[in-house]
Amino acid sequence: MNAASPTAMKTVAIIQARMGSSRLPGKVLETIAGKPMLQWVIERTQAARKVDQVVLATTIETSDDKVAAFAASLGIGVVRGSVDDVLDRYYQSAKRFAPDLIVRITADCPMIDPQIIDRAIARFQEGGYDYVSTADPVPTFPDGLDVSVTSMAILERVWKEAALKSEREHVFPYVYKNPDKFRLGTVIHDIDLSAMRWTVDEAVDLEFVRTVYAELGARIFVMGDVLDLLRRKPELADVNSGIIRNEGYLKSLTQDREAAMSKGKGQELYKKAKELIPGGTQLLSKRPEMFLPDQWPSYYSKAKGCEVWDLDGVKYTDMSYSAIGACVLGYADPDVDAAVIQAVNNGNVSTLNCPEEVELAETLLVAHPWAQKVRYARTGGEAMTVAVRIGRAHSGKDKVAFCGYHGWHDWYLAANLAQDDKLDGHLIPGLEPKGVPRGLLGTALPFSYNKIAELEKIVADHGKEIGVIVMEPIRNFRPADGFLEKVREIATRIGAVLIFDEVTTGWRMTDGGAHLLLGVNPDIAVFGKAISNGYPMAAVIGVGRVMQSVQSTFISSTYWTDRIGPTATLATIKKIAGHKVMARLAVLGEKVQQGWAAIAAKNALKVEIGGMPQISHFSFLYDNGQAMKTLFVKLMLEKGYLATTAYYAMYAHSDDAIAKYLEASDDAFRKIAMAQREGTVEKLIDGPVAHSGFRRLT
Ligand SMILES: Cc1ncc(COP(=O)(O)O)c(C=O)c1O
Repeated sequence: MNAASPTAMKTVAIIQARMGSSRLPGKVLETIAGKPMLQWVIERTQAARKVDQVVLATTIETSDDKVAAFAASLGIGVVRGSVDDVLDRYYQSAKRFAPDLIVRITADCPMIDPQIIDRAIARFQEGGYDYVSTADPVPTFPDGLDVSVTSMAILERVWKEAALKSEREHVFPYVYKNPDKFRLGTVIHDIDLSAMRWTVDEAVDLEFVRTVYAELGARIFVMGDVLDLLRRKPELADVNSGIIRNEGYLKSLTQDREAAMSKGKGQELYKKAKELIPGGTQLLSKRPEMFLPDQWPSYYSKAKGCEVWDLDGVKYTDMSYSAIGACVLGYADPDVDAAVIQAVNNGNVSTLNCPEEVELAETLLVAHPWAQKVRYARTGGEAMTVAVRIGRAHSGKDKVAFCGYHGWHDWYLAANLAQDDKLDGHLIPGLEPKGVPRGLLGTALPFSYNKIAELEKIVADHGKEIGVIVMEPIRNFRPADGFLEKVREIATRIGAVLIFDEVTTGWRMTDGGAHLLLGVNPDIAVFGKAISNGYPMAAVIGVGRVMQSVQSTFISSTYWTDRIGPTATLATIKKIAGHKVMARLAVLGEKVQQGWAAIAAKNALKVEIGGMPQISHFSFLYDNGQAMKTLFVKLMLEKGYLATTAYYAMYAHSDDAIAKYLEASDDAFRKIAMAQREGTVEKLIDGPVAHSGFRRLT
């Protein structure tokens, strides 16, 4: 404690104490390591270097005579006041000692940490705040280390303005519930320890605190000492774990969290992968850096329904990309898997072909009456390349006008050969087209979704050479009135083959391509991802006379003949129809979009929500939005979620899973909002910011 200098600001800590307690009457005078609890609180507060004076505020009730007498016997000032109007009692106490700064401590915190008291005071003294707390509005320190700091002027204002009973039964709710009226500061611990309970409300809490003192000695130890002790002897916390928020704390601090975060086997393996596999993974969207660099679990050992287990056996609920859109039913769907296992048992390949590819062709064509022929591939980008080849073969013209993302192949990446900066807005930013023949320069010409004038311009400049127009019929936005019809009309007019890329949209919005909902038919539609619920499969369907062009070019591959692909697709399509999966996905997506909007408003965070409900996404509208996203991923990971700023609906997501996810997201948003106010977003990530994802045209 400071020897107060006459010029310095006077900082008075006021300890609130009462004998009354519904669960543990007289607790403040219970003995811990040979001293009454109140004495520990007083001595610990006196040990704070920035506190000039410690005083006690109690009530005028006779039951509190003992508390008052005890405090007086220790030589500290005592003020007694109203029983119910705690705010008044507090204000009157403060007035008596004429402080500049007031530090509020409660007497049921016998492990209050003088260093944390000093941190809170220091934060207040830095300026810019009316109120600084370790716990309001969101705590990150263990329950029982709570400190609040304000000025006498603010306390007086609160005392005058707070009118509701609920605002006077405690000292500061009027402040932290009115962030528009007061500048609030929060001291944050970089690991959320708020689930730990070191306060004393119940007999078992007292037992816990006594045990800690017995272990660490009758002295003023600090938070770090207690954390070290609990790491060594986690069982000590069991005593009050039954009634407390710290259920799971030790689990999360010492086991799951460490495993899930940087020390996990997944990160170790990923380090090795980066040495052996250029780029680390096979798909950009599955790179750990796209989520939480250095901390993402990276690999899975098992996946079932909407749950995923990492290499350390830690289980997560996956509310993110659902295998980058590959699963609409859920992981390891029992019906699809049963069909696949049967296919495996009967031989996945032979010199003869599997009959399922013919059955699937019929199924696809029944769903799309405008089409008459089908070919297969096994991935989306590959199938798109097949489609573009067919389109060029049919039209006899090389140039492709396109919009959106369609894979990694030469026909598409050729767009980045052009010396046009604008392309970055159309493709994955920064995509290098090295290795794509320069001879393809000028063959892939991008236009923006819903901007028909851009396509018209391409047609005006290159009309006779445009053989193919490629786009997703819908993605982030609904088509503007007449947009798709106009594209269709242009394609027909210039003799270009119109290809709808339904790799992501197919069997996700309706039973078939999304274009069925939009009333415009292409010449070719391409499916992948969702149609086979996680097994490699892609299909190219089209108008008979266009598809016949396959005969005049060579398109052929060994593994396009395997049995698992068509078998999984038939089983998936059947299940989707039988369980009305499409309607359910829309409901789930809408719930999530509405939930995001609600929690963003509640926590005063500016976010933009977009995408069709089944493939929803949001972004934080701040300069450091990418850092905020990274912190969201981290906070959600700590809560047991694979989550990012996107949600791809799966039938396996129950209403309960959605509700719990939104609850967890709400808490994460609250912490992010607080960190944003404090300027600590980057610090809390405790690692690099996520790489930004690829952008799509539509
Ligand atoms: C619209 C669209 N087309 C093509 C692709 C490429 O599919 P794949 O990754 O299976 O090659 C994707 C993948 O995200 C896509 O979203």
